[in-house]
Amino acid sequence: MSDPRGTRRILVTGGSGLVGRAIQKVVEDGARLPGEDWVFVSSKDADLTDAAQTRALFEQVQPTLVIHLAAMVGGLFRNIKYNLDFWTTQMPLPGHVVGEGSEARGGVWPAQASLLLSSRARGCVPSGGAGEALDPVWRGLSPASHPPQRKNIHINDNVLHSAFEVGVHKVVSCLSTCIFPDKTTYPIDETMIHNGPPHSSNFGYSYAKRMIDVQNRAYFQQHGCTFTAVIPTNVFGPHDNFSIEDGHVLPGLIHKVHLAKSSGSALTVWGTGRPRRQFIYSLDLARLFIWALREYDEVEPIILSVGEEDEVSIQEAAEAVVEAMDFHGEVTFDTTKSDGQFKKTASNAKLRAYLPDFQFTPFKQAVKETCVWFTDNYEQARK
Ligand SMILES: NC(=O)c1ccc[n+]([C@@H]2O[C@H](COP(=O)([O-])OP(=O)(O)OC[C@H]3O[C@@H](n4cnc5c(N)ncnc54)[C@H](OP(=O)(O)O)[C@@H]3O)[C@@H](O)[C@H]2O)c1
Repeated sequence: MSDPRGTRRILVTGGSGLVGRAIQKVVEDGARLPGEDWVFVSSKDADLTDAAQTRALFEQVQPTLVIHLAAMVGGLFRNIKYNLDFWTTQMPLPGHVVGEGSEARGGVWPAQASLLLSSRARGCVPSGGAGEALDPVWRGLSPASHPPQRKNIHINDNVLHSAFEVGVHKVVSCLSTCIFPDKTTYPIDETMIHNGPPHSSNFGYSYAKRMIDVQNRAYFQQHGCTFTAVIPTNVFGPHDNFSIEDGHVLPGLIHKVHLAKSSGSALTVWGTGRPRRQFIYSLDLARLFIWALREYDEVEPIILSVGEEDEVSIQEAAEAVVEAMDFHGEVTFDTTKSDGQFKKTASNAKLRAYLPDFQFTPFKQAVKETCVWFTDNYEQARK
């Protein structure tokens, strides 16, 4: 991908988080190409819920390409507690994704959006009054009118609009397989994002993420922007949030096993252990993100996941952690706790069509590496 300005400056929002730190490691370990200038930012550099701060960041960095990771992120129990904060105001009713009459409801999109763009990323073409012809649902999303705690929709809207305004060539944002419809057929694929309401436990996060896909298509249709998104399954690895209350299942389990081992108590796994998940190691995801930034030129999102055959139950994930941490105590299941969505089995057929030979790190090896990182970095780890 060439750039008329010579250097490709890649801005990574959410650069201090689990996925951002993994991308940084892969870049530093040799993935950086000549002429690439990577800039990793966190909320300390700019609060992306704030439109002015976001715009100032983009004007300062002048990125050519953007990986947009920044988000309010959390596991099942944090999502259940804070659905409003994971979204914002103007919450559409379940089943009414972007307002009556929108083609998005039925999953029918402007024909142009499904076209493959040229392999050379195109810059957006700002044409005065970007909001003027938009659906009323977008006009309701003025950041100034909402308190800042309702995070994700503002972050995404500010980042995409600032990218558009400074003429970024390509933005790769991050969705998640947990935003897919709760009632669906399996395996889930990229065409099914808007086919029905998400699981009730995380509807705020899910609808906010789904709107990235809506915006990507609208920016492409109206301005020719190459704004796209990847859809990872459950991510884990070094620098994760290992909070038992607020984190995701695997880092939470690692923390619990660490505590149970230190205190000689039993490990209590929340829920029945029966739900099934596809886990992706953050370093594998980082390599795929970098590939998507350089090579993937569809506006349609792409699922980044291990195969369906690599899906494991929560019980199997707990057993992998127990083995990696060499824990020999009792393991119990607290079935009074919610299981969340039973499964979200995603197809990686599209990814495999692009990258048939990509090698994922074996699950047990990745769990072991993450457990070692957590134990070695216990004092500084987020927990
Ligand atoms: N973790 C998963 O299992 C998973 C699965 C699928 C998709 N994803 C997606 O992957 C992306 C990265 O997730 P992650 O797990 O790496 O998250 P994370 O570890 O919680 O990191 C979140 C990042 O977002 C930044 N951030 C949060 N609020 C911000 C704000 N108001 N302004 C600027 N920056 C802000 C944080 O900065 P500070 O460090 O300064 O707070 C941090 O760098 C997210 O879009 C998430 O939805 C994650």
